[in-house]
Amino acid sequence: MSYYKIGDLEQYFKHYKKSVREPRKFWGKIAEENFVWYQAWDKVFDFDMEKHDIKWFTDGKLNIVKNCIDRHLSKRGEKAALIFEPNDINEQAQVISYNELYVRVAKMANVLKSQGIEKGDRVCIYLPMIPELAIAMLACARIGAIHSVIFAGFSAEAIKTRVEDCGAKMVITSDGGFRGAKTIQLKNIVDDAIKDLSSVEKVLVVKRTNEAVQMKEGRDLWLAPLYEVAEESNVAQIMDSEDPLFILYTSGSTGKPKGMVHTTAGYMIQTAYTFNNVFDYKDDDIFWCTADLGWITGHSYILYGALLNGATTVMFEGVPSYPNPSRFWDIIDKHKVTQFYTAPTAIRSLMTEDYSYITGHDLSSLRILGSVGEPINEEAWHWFNDFVGKKRCPIVDTWWQTETGSILISPLANVTPTKPTYATLPMPGIQTVLMDELHNEITGNQVMGSLCIKFPWPSMARTIWNDHERYVQTYFSDFPGCYFTGDGALRDEVGYYRITGRTDDVVIVSGHNIGTAPIEDAINQHPAVAESAVVGYNHDIKGNGLYGFITLKVEGTTRDRENVKKEINQLITSHYGPIGKLDKIQFVEGLPKTRSGKILRRLLRSIATNRLDTFGDTSTMINPEVVQGIIDERQ
Ligand code: PRX
Repeated sequence: MSYYKIGDLEQYFKHYKKSVREPRKFWGKIAEENFVWYQAWDKVFDFDMEKHDIKWFTDGKLNIVKNCIDRHLSKRGEKAALIFEPNDINEQAQVISYNELYVRVAKMANVLKSQGIEKGDRVCIYLPMIPELAIAMLACARIGAIHSVIFAGFSAEAIKTRVEDCGAKMVITSDGGFRGAKTIQLKNIVDDAIKDLSSVEKVLVVKRTNEAVQMKEGRDLWLAPLYEVAEESNVAQIMDSEDPLFILYTSGSTGKPKGMVHTTAGYMIQTAYTFNNVFDYKDDDIFWCTADLGWITGHSYILYGALLNGATTVMFEGVPSYPNPSRFWDIIDKHKVTQFYTAPTAIRSLMTEDYSYITGHDLSSLRILGSVGEPINEEAWHWFNDFVGKKRCPIVDTWWQTETGSILISPLANVTPTKPTYATLPMPGIQTVLMDELHNEITGNQVMGSLCIKFPWPSMARTIWNDHERYVQTYFSDFPGCYFTGDGALRDEVGYYRITGRTDDVVIVSGHNIGTAPIEDAINQHPAVAESAVVGYNHDIKGNGLYGFITLKVEGTTRDRENVKKEINQLITSHYGPIGKLDKIQFVEGLPKTRSGKILRRLLRSIATNRLDTFGDTSTMINPEVVQGIIDERQ
């Protein structure tokens, strides 16, 4: 019996049971039957839960890129692997076959090697959504270098933190990037980011916009001349199952971003498996995930999960509103997309546009719709279902995280009956539990609690780069013995899960995970600012907006407040990136605090979201007199 494909609901329950009762057999069989290995593993898993040392497929030897590309060549060499849709509608789309992808990745891998990159070296990639981004990731994986992609909307300071933390030897970037009507000067930003970092030996520069850039002698190299002369074949590095594949940074509720480390075999198996089942993948599908490769969704489903299944995957450089709000529908029509996987924030923003932007586009190729990144509200769900899917495409509301590597809770298209706003059922292998405040498991249905997972799964992040203690502390200390997701959830009468949102100081803005602490750090650098607290509030398009409550120093109170607001957002943009800008700023006399000096964020959240009935216990507050003023002047 094969466990790779789930055909119907009955089979789902059967496989789920098997995965819980006999996880070794379940995952072992999937690994054996669907992937190529240089050497089989010794044990399917080996956990030391004292140290939180988690290993899957111990001592197995493989290369993920061989599984993504090489093994498909004999059967699907001429099949399109990647379809690149440029930002500019007048630029031609590129269709890259598996054969061509092999050559392009091999050449890039040889360039990296020629520049001294070896197995285990870290390479940061700061590129726009162009084929070279995917190719650079695959080239790293082919030679065993650990890629760390930095989203091309991040600021110099955000890049610096990441490059420094992982000690990258190389940064791959481009002269610039096109995004809607804007051109972004990526190379300049990188120059600024790494000027004081000694680990970076080489900067490889892709030409995209023809911006004038400065090339630092001995450090900076144009990719083109090196690529031109590189060999067209490359022997893939033999990797151990647990060798790191990539590091991807995600915001925590405090401190600097966490470099989540994903390893090779477990990640490969579970991204492939979930891609195939969640999206009911079929051989001639054209899969389009609108995320950026700089986020985990891009890593796992634009790239690895799709290629591992030999699929055709679309990569879009631009934004949904450029040159007009029909761009997404144009692309679906033009490339005959079958699966369309996007984020609620994009849906909400497209919903506000005139319906005429959709009509006139043939969306009949679509079979399946997907949503990811934040809870999808009921209105957006129905709009997606009615106007995009024309009520004939199942919507898979996929819940997961950077840390989980692959989708953990989701309907399986054409298998699981969907329910608006519900992520529904856990994937086989995922033992979800809800916990109460006393850290006990809540059994039964129609209950609510903190969402935890009580058994390791193959694609989970193994550690935080250079900080295993923080990994243990963040994920395994709240509910001993369990991985804590940071999300709250409810389980309905039939066992379906609905994610209710973060329970910590992380706010999901337009699908981006933003820790409020680094935003506050940036605000506090303003000379007029005494103190600040940032919370999320409900925003029609973005899901959540950022609301900053700020106290000014005495000398700051005489300054022009509108100017101070502007300067604060400029500071955030330069320290964090534009996605952290505050939507609302309120200057207040004082921030509500507990006796021990902790800011009562819960209370500020209630004010920001206009839920004055949810204040909860305020008996520990030391300065209750500030609250009324904050309420009276709220925005
Ligand atoms: O709060 C959950 C929310 O996004 C968080 C993870 O963010 P990130 O690591 O950036 O990964 C996003 C893409 C996988 C989760 O803790 N989230 C993600 N998907 C959903 C969701 N909330 C509700 N429903 C979802 N489908």
